[in-house]
Amino acid sequence: MGKVSRIGLATAALASVSTAYTLAADNDVTIKDTASQIAKGLFDTYYDPAATTGQFKQPESWFWWLSGTAWNGLLDYTLLTNDTTYKKPLLDAIYKNVGENFDFVPASQASWEANDDQAYWVYNALTAMEYSFDPLPCPGGGSSPCETDWVKLGSNAFDRFVSRWNADAGTCGGGLKWQFTPSAKGYDYKNSVTNGGFFQTAARLARYTGNQTYADWAIKVWDWSTSVGFVTSDFRVIDGAGDEKFNCTQPDKNEWTYNSATYMMGAANMYAFTGGDKVWEQRVQGLVNTAKKQFFTQDGIMREACENNGNRCNTDNTSFKSSLARWMARTAILVPSVKQTITDLLEKSATAAAKTCSGSTCGNLWTAAAPSAGKQDFGTQLSALEIVQSLLVLDATLKLATAAGAAQPPTPAQPSASSPAAAQPTESAKPQIKFVKSVHKTS
Ligand SMILES: *[C@@H]1O[C@H](CO)[C@@H](O)[C@H](O)[C@H]1NC(C)=O
Ligand SMILES: *[C@@H]1O[C@H](CO)[C@@H](O)[C@H](O)[C@H]1NC(C)=O
Ligand SMILES: *[C@@H]1O[C@H](CO)[C@@H](O)[C@H](O)[C@H]1NC(C)=O
Ligand SMILES: *[C@@H]1O[C@H](CO)[C@@H](O)[C@H](O)[C@H]1NC(C)=O
Repeated sequence: MGKVSRIGLATAALASVSTAYTLAADNDVTIKDTASQIAKGLFDTYYDPAATTGQFKQPESWFWWLSGTAWNGLLDYTLLTNDTTYKKPLLDAIYKNVGENFDFVPASQASWEANDDQAYWVYNALTAMEYSFDPLPCPGGGSSPCETDWVKLGSNAFDRFVSRWNADAGTCGGGLKWQFTPSAKGYDYKNSVTNGGFFQTAARLARYTGNQTYADWAIKVWDWSTSVGFVTSDFRVIDGAGDEKFNCTQPDKNEWTYNSATYMMGAANMYAFTGGDKVWEQRVQGLVNTAKKQFFTQDGIMREACENNGNRCNTDNTSFKSSLARWMARTAILVPSVKQTITDLLEKSATAAAKTCSGSTCGNLWTAAAPSAGKQDFGTQLSALEIVQSLLVLDATLKLATAAGAAQPPTPAQPSASSPAAAQPTESAKPQIKFVKSVHKTS
């Protein structure tokens, strides 16, 4: 990342209204200070110490998944800054939600938990696994048997996704349903956040453990997702499609940042798992380039579609940018060829987002880059935290761990065996070049 452009950003930030944060993107201390203010806003305003289930205050009880992703934001914060302020409540909250079978299906959420909700809690375990975070606490001082292993937590959830996939195979030629409880509203829908979540979980477990079983499932879920058009040939990621009535033939083509991000992170992990497979690299590049086109302004500022035409984003929607910020930054460190593109977008977006913060509270319209622009809610606060601290990921000395005994990926890797593109490895660079041109032509 260029020092010059960072100095330029810092100057631009300093010219902003004085109550907003100025973010000198070349200065980790300033980034950490800003992240610390935003984390404090998130925690102090929304954390509910009285909630015995370790939840944040939510507008609706089924926003349990938002608590899961917010803890992931604070886990990222803890890892990236070494500030231990939130470590204890974070570990306690995760422990309270692992459930009886140690897979993030707690009885307390039985009324509304869906596959994607579970996945958003699982990402905490995967993050903790990848950065060798403290193990889960054992309440009761370890006097009774107690699971504490992050990998086990992730792999148990993976096993659940596999068995549900098999149970859901009757429609759309495969795929997980959004819901896993037959009586739940939405049991007739298959979607990207769910299947991307399974894909990402499998890919991260594959990269960390080196176990081919996970990689095989990641490939299977990716191939199905493209076959059914959830991930299109030009790397758009659409929301999903009804399965029971329509067999996935009538898709909801809305594009949300978090759907693209979910697949991007999985593809980046598959690239790393394979030691640099060109096919996976081209997929990552496609997802990054399309995300740039769909979710960033010409000025490089991240924007959710619902911000247009009156900012009708709800608290669910305002949190989505946190996923794109979080996983784009990890993608940049896993896949060197996209690092410059991502760094540029994250720096510009973080600088703009910081200008929407006043006190410890941020706004969701980063494009306005003014104090309190847009909505100020839980999802907004989390998105601001993740975009600002994404700059720390890019510079992080933090290294992704690999399980002891996991085979180091071969370099260079062979193209993946499963997908049609792998049959012509020499073709793998062509779609990428064509794609870059088409981005320029249409934008
Ligand atoms: C956090 O602390 C550890 C141990 O002192 C150190 O190795 C690491 O570099 C620190 N990380 C950051 C981001 O400051
Ligand atoms: C549903 O879609 C799958 C995959 O596209 C296809 O294999 C299957 O034949 C379809 N089923 C029906 C009943 O049309
Ligand atoms: C690989 O992962 C699968 C799924 O969790 C597991 O059943 C299998 O035992 C693992 N294999 C090895 C060698 O650890
Ligand atoms: C975004 O908000 C709208 C409006 O409340 C809601 O209907 C929709 O389900 C949300 N989008 C997603 C992908 O959750």
